[in-house]
Amino acid sequence: MPSQGKFRSSGKGSKRSSVKKIVTDPKERQRLVENIVKPFILDDAVYKRVCDVMLDNFNKGLGKETNAEARVKMFPTYVRSVPDGTEEGDFLALDLGGTNFRVLLISLKGQEVNMESKIFLIPQHIMLGTGIQLFDHIADCIYKFMKEQKIEKKTLPLGFTFSFPCKQLGLAKAKLTTWTKGFKCEGVEGNDIVQLLHEAIKRKGDMEVECLAVINDTVGALMSCAHSDRQCAIGLILGTGTNACYIEKLENVGLWDSDYNDPKEVIINTEWGAMGDDGGLDFLITEYDKHVDKHSINGGKQIYEKMISGMYMGEIVRLVLEKLRRNGLLFGGVGSEELSKRGRFYTKYVSEIESDVDESDFKSTKQVFEELELTNYTDEDCRIALYVCSLVSTRAAYLASAGIATLLNKMGRKDVSVAVDGSLYRFHPHFHDLMVEKIEKLVTPGIRFKLMLSHDGSGKGAALVAAVANRLRDEEAKKEKDCKPNED
Ligand code: GLC
Repeated sequence: MPSQGKFRSSGKGSKRSSVKKIVTDPKERQRLVENIVKPFILDDAVYKRVCDVMLDNFNKGLGKETNAEARVKMFPTYVRSVPDGTEEGDFLALDLGGTNFRVLLISLKGQEVNMESKIFLIPQHIMLGTGIQLFDHIADCIYKFMKEQKIEKKTLPLGFTFSFPCKQLGLAKAKLTTWTKGFKCEGVEGNDIVQLLHEAIKRKGDMEVECLAVINDTVGALMSCAHSDRQCAIGLILGTGTNACYIEKLENVGLWDSDYNDPKEVIINTEWGAMGDDGGLDFLITEYDKHVDKHSINGGKQIYEKMISGMYMGEIVRLVLEKLRRNGLLFGGVGSEELSKRGRFYTKYVSEIESDVDESDFKSTKQVFEELELTNYTDEDCRIALYVCSLVSTRAAYLASAGIATLLNKMGRKDVSVAVDGSLYRFHPHFHDLMVEKIEKLVTPGIRFKLMLSHDGSGKGAALVAAVANRLRDEEAKKEKDCKPNED
């Protein structure tokens, strides 16, 4: 294909630092590019091995004796009953799992669900500050929202989607084990986040809010789909981070402490992002993954998550593009100040670039290049950048597929719907199709599955769980009252 791109003089901020000889011969260029991206192309045998490692991690996490040293923690949740449609009233929901924090007001009336919500930003200094600052900020946001909605005088039950690894001690008691996804607030790990929230609400004063349930976003996704689809048994998040939950038979949950009121099945929050933290995925880790991990604030942790999710994917692509440029294989060796900045190549660019179907045009790719202040590109550069994006995102989709296939094979049900949410899955043009294709290859023949988009599980799911808890509490209170001897 002839290069029709524009060559401009290298503007301010461009750099040609330590660039090897520019490769102009198309065949030689292609060969050298292939050589650099090779580590992202993995065959099915490798993905099958990922399934084996995953299963081993799941079993270790579920075992009573092995859980303590397991990296994939397999936390049992306390979410039992699904909504039965009789829940009524107004509920608040909080959704914290990334830089955006949402407060929602959800009104339930039979099957009717009305939602109002507002997004607040969590500034970087709060993400890396103290727990008190974080929860005070959350309480401030709740108060602002309630005032705007004119509900500050009401006493409202609340459901909290807190999308970080937590050991659940009850439906409304969850201890954060470790921060993930760029958060590191001092004084929260090891503590009950519901208690921290209640304390902050008390400090703020002037509002009556009680948190009745805390759930993970994977559970929210599962709950909101299970509402309409009885076969829904897995919740998957592919967003800033990645994680999955699923319904497990109690007899397989060795770490479960028995109680007379035991359910037959429990939802397990796998926290699968931590797979590989023990070196178990070293057989496929690339130099780019190592680089991303080394420069993250949680080095050595969430290795599987770092190869898949939105917080890291753009950075992996950026590192590959920079290496190609330094080797004289991209942009005529001329980069830009922007492209050289860590974290500057957003994962949304990967989705945008891969949306360029018409190769003669490369409209979105060129727009991304412009945003990155790259000026020295040709159509061939666009093609190579698109190729890099597709290899990195395909590996991510296939790795996530290995996780889902492992769950499907482990559960052994004939038909399973997987509720999926998260920006990566939502906005990437091929993620869904890539996953379906690879899961089909990795799953035991005879198992049928469906990947369905879950609509706002983190908001609606949390409110539904709180609503059920509220209904059960009211029913209990009524029973107790009815049992009391009549005092008249
Ligand atoms: C991270 C969190 C996990 C969450 C996932 C998706 O992996 O540890 O709890 O479910 O991100 O948001």
